[in-house]
Amino acid sequence: MKFFIDTANLKDIKEAHELGVLDGVTTNPSLMAKEGIKGQANVLAHYKAICEIVDGDVSAEVIATDYVGMIKEGEELVKIDPKIVVKIPMIKDGVKALKYFSDRGIRTNCTLVFSSGQALLAAKAGATYVSPFVGRLDDISQDGLLLIQDIVKIYSNYGFKTQVLAASVRHSMHLLKCAELGADVVTCPLGVITSLLKHPLTDSGLATFLNDHKKVNA
Ligand code: G3P
Repeated sequence: MKFFIDTANLKDIKEAHELGVLDGVTTNPSLMAKEGIKGQANVLAHYKAICEIVDGDVSAEVIATDYVGMIKEGEELVKIDPKIVVKIPMIKDGVKALKYFSDRGIRTNCTLVFSSGQALLAAKAGATYVSPFVGRLDDISQDGLLLIQDIVKIYSNYGFKTQVLAASVRHSMHLLKCAELGADVVTCPLGVITSLLKHPLTDSGLATFLNDHKKVNA
């Protein structure tokens, strides 16, 4: 199972990388805006800075919503660094763009996926990753994890190579359930990854061990 961090914050990306468990990064226009990045040149420079920190795939999202615009933008994005994966929204022209990039061996991440039908289309078009948004479905009282289960089953039925990248993962239970369901990747904020570390019995057990060690050397 791969862990991606869902942020454009360089400090958090470095921290996750230094922990030694990071396999890649996903970004989106909202996450870029959150970091205060303004202007296309700065956006491209920021993607480059992210690529210099991590070893794995870095998703960079197109802004165009028409086929020609998405192709143009995607081709510019992949020039930044070989780690760049072109992130494309699940709309009709997006499906065509996924096929265009797939035919040319360019990796893609199909984003804003909220149904198994959309995920099936993304796989048929040759997407490298499909990003179902777990938390945003939960937000509207639909079961986001059920969607992960459905997509994993459908892809397994037909041997689709598209990897299920569970996105909008908000807490450790989301992450662990995605692991149980067989998602290939989860993307989430740094805090969700580090929350896996925590257990009160680890803390109290370590305190006892260290205290007893003092007695050994007393
Ligand atoms: O990157 C897309 C997705 O992970 C966003 O998550 O928490 O804004 O729904 P969230």
